[in-house]
Amino acid sequence: MSSRILILDYGSQYTQLIARRVREARVYSEIHPPTRTIDWVRAWGPTGIILSGGPNSVYGDNVPTADPALLEIAPVLGVCYGMQLIAHLQRGGVERAGRREYGRAEVTVNDPEGLFAGFDAGEAFTAWMSHGDHVEVPPAEYVVTASSANCAVAAMRHRTKPIYGVQFHPEVAHTPRGNELIANFLFDVCGAEATWTPGAFVAEEVERVRERVGASRVICGLSGGVDSAVAAALVHRATGDQLTCIFVDTGLLRRHERDQVEQTFRRHLGIDLRVVDASERFLTALAGVDDPERKRTIIGHTFIDVFEDSAASVGADVKFLVQGTLYPDVIESASPTGGASVTIKTHHNVGGLKPDMQFQLIEPLRELFKDEVRNVGRELGLPEEMVGRHPFPGPGLAIRVLGAVTPAQLEVLRSADAIYLEEIRAAGLYDEIWQAFAVLLPVRSVGVMGDERTYDYVLALRAVTSTDGMTADWYPMPHDVLARISNRIINEVDGVNRVAYDVSSKPPATIEWE
Ligand code: XMP
Repeated sequence: MSSRILILDYGSQYTQLIARRVREARVYSEIHPPTRTIDWVRAWGPTGIILSGGPNSVYGDNVPTADPALLEIAPVLGVCYGMQLIAHLQRGGVERAGRREYGRAEVTVNDPEGLFAGFDAGEAFTAWMSHGDHVEVPPAEYVVTASSANCAVAAMRHRTKPIYGVQFHPEVAHTPRGNELIANFLFDVCGAEATWTPGAFVAEEVERVRERVGASRVICGLSGGVDSAVAAALVHRATGDQLTCIFVDTGLLRRHERDQVEQTFRRHLGIDLRVVDASERFLTALAGVDDPERKRTIIGHTFIDVFEDSAASVGADVKFLVQGTLYPDVIESASPTGGASVTIKTHHNVGGLKPDMQFQLIEPLRELFKDEVRNVGRELGLPEEMVGRHPFPGPGLAIRVLGAVTPAQLEVLRSADAIYLEEIRAAGLYDEIWQAFAVLLPVRSVGVMGDERTYDYVLALRAVTSTDGMTADWYPMPHDVLARISNRIINEVDGVNRVAYDVSSKPPATIEWE
């Protein structure tokens, strides 16, 4: 079996980062709650185990812990709370916090072996600390391998067994040499092999899907987004013409979006694609509705009806439905209070189907992070415009025409949005930005064009940087690019005489305006 690292999640905000760093080193990793039993862990067969950080104190009530037998199954690395837990289980002294240490620290290596192979004795490096308690005295049998001014035991290891702890966070970017430490743990300590690559994933997953599907028919709803596109391409590689894709044109799409999907899937990949033009149905259902959440509900319900009708017309022998669910949506994590809680997002993708649905789900991307999905898409030969595209919300332009939606306003927004994206691409900025889009405000302002007074709409431009959409910063768009965009929009788009740039971060604003 390929190497695999088990990450037990003690509730740190950085746990997913640990998993990503391990995977970036091409070793497969999964995150699980600390309540997994010893038998479960043995059966899972880890090449190594990482205990994450977490907000608790090992002296707290009902805090997540570990069976000491865990330390005997495979090499272990404890990070922050994970290290304190190792010290506690092995009867070392964990000191209750006098005060928290938060921020960068200079850590000096005492023992350039194991985790610190490649460092020099006495060498200092910058590390990110974020902890309350710390290990005051390492357990018997353990040696201190690194120290900082505030933290005498910044890292430790067992004298003879492969058990390591670090008080700082090697997984964050503020620990610049953290990747070297993680690589040392993976390859030198655990003896893992770097075989987790997009190519290996595709080969394995294609086999798995093929076996499961047999000769049955499969359908997949395409949204135009990256996830459903990659899921469909992968299942197509596994099942060929047993797959039918359905693309619902809601009338709420951006310019050329439908053409692009047809081009990629029908012409380029040769997939059986059914395009359903349901724009009238959506626009009629939305007429006069101005509340954002009602718009979302109407769009969600209409989408399900249209999709199910279309799926029924594919044939009675359809047994499977492909969905582009990603790993962050299915990770079971520890709640900060220690009880295992399952956090499965019921997120607002328009693909949410009815509970009595007859299909079995195929979710080929449920082990992947977004950046891995993009790499798998490239591996499958999807064009870069599709793989690298910005996220687009299921309700589409309906939540970017503020208030009630009319076909005329959608057309104004579509024209302005197309110019905006075209100029961002031309300036080479598209890939620096997480999401960029225009919003049509329900506000008119006075302007002058030639000798004429105008009274037209205001358009807002939004561009943000983010890693997951949960928080975001507004993007400092270069002024010359902004000038070009606003000039073109005001000159070329009828109905807009003023352009504003949104300089709000999330929180407290959200990315979308509705
Ligand atoms: P907000 O506006 O909540 O957006 O900061 C975070 C991310 O989610 C997207 N978004 C949606 N996606 N259906 C979707 O599929 C929705 O109703 C929806 N609302 C927001 C948004 O574009 C951003 O990427």
